[in-house]
Amino acid sequence: MQTLLITNTDKQNIEIAAKLIKEGKLVVMPTETVYGLGANALDREAVTNVYKAKGRPMDNPLIVHLAKADDAEKYAHTSELYYKLAERFMPGPLTVILPKKDVIPYEVTCGLETVAIRVPSNGIAHTLIELSGCPIAAPSANLSGRPSPTSFEHVIEDMNGRVDAIIDGGRCDVGVESTVIILKDNSAEILRPGLITYEELKDVIPDITVNEAVKNQCTSSKPASPGMKYRHYAPSSPVYLVDGDDERIIAFFKEKQRNENCGILCFDEDAKYLNKTNLLTFGGHFDEEKQAHELFDMLRKFDSMTVDAIYARLPSDKGVGLAVYNRLIRAAGFSIIKV
Ligand code: TXA
Ligand code: MG
Repeated sequence: MQTLLITNTDKQNIEIAAKLIKEGKLVVMPTETVYGLGANALDREAVTNVYKAKGRPMDNPLIVHLAKADDAEKYAHTSELYYKLAERFMPGPLTVILPKKDVIPYEVTCGLETVAIRVPSNGIAHTLIELSGCPIAAPSANLSGRPSPTSFEHVIEDMNGRVDAIIDGGRCDVGVESTVIILKDNSAEILRPGLITYEELKDVIPDITVNEAVKNQCTSSKPASPGMKYRHYAPSSPVYLVDGDDERIIAFFKEKQRNENCGILCFDEDAKYLNKTNLLTFGGHFDEEKQAHELFDMLRKFDSMTVDAIYARLPSDKGVGLAVYNRLIRAAGFSIIKV
């Protein structure tokens, strides 16, 4: 398939992409989190093609992207709590799972009676949804199992030739996918952490919890969010997370660099103590937003190195750190080395 690359994002070019969406075609769009592989959410065939293009299992549902929070009314049963969240966090990197209305086909939700709703703040995504005149179902635009794409180059690697168009929006601001929460009566549960943190959400929903699978391996065959059960974000070499105090971790990395052909993913502060070969940094020790911004780009960079293993620092599990922790622990297949 010939993929149209849209690098000039003037309105008339977004119009061309919107026309493709209306025709049931696949368009990769930038969002503030990661790039999304979009299709008309009301077109069953287009939605089915999204799974095919990604190689995504047909039991992992898609997020429906809307131009404004009120539009959720057409596709889902909303609540007072939804609007409270919308007022504070939408448009932005929050996805809310609500009971679905009949117009949303089961191809989007993989047979579930709920639908994931998100209103992206990225201007290109917003314009595309508005001009398309339909909700856009979009998973992250990576091949299934690979790190989510946070730049146009990443999308080209995975999707050139597999979709009808790709819009270049430069680097994504956030770098990890949206926070996903499911609402219950007056409470909520975080199914996937993101830039919008547990601490911020607790301000609006005092009775909010974090699903166990955010930090631990999912053992249930029927998890709250199907995406939890898949190994994700993995570079081709095995990843090991390393936990302990700074000095011991540096000593461990040094020993590995002497004895193994390995990659090291460390904080900026660590780099001065280490050999620069196959060494990548992903932000300061306490700069979780920078770590989130860099993480997927770094995981992809390791794929262009020939290393037998990657040793990475365990991030904090507080604030935005929890989002970084959640992605890295999956990339590492849940193995942590304590030093
Ligand atoms: O930031 C993001 O959320 C990006 C951009 C493109 O918007 N999208 C994204 O989509 O990360 P995806 O498909 O890679 O991840 C969606 C996650 C999956 O883990 C899926 O299982 C979960 O949301 N999900 C979707 N619908 C659900 C539902 N009805 N119930 C439970 N989980 C759901
Ligand atoms: Mg994804």
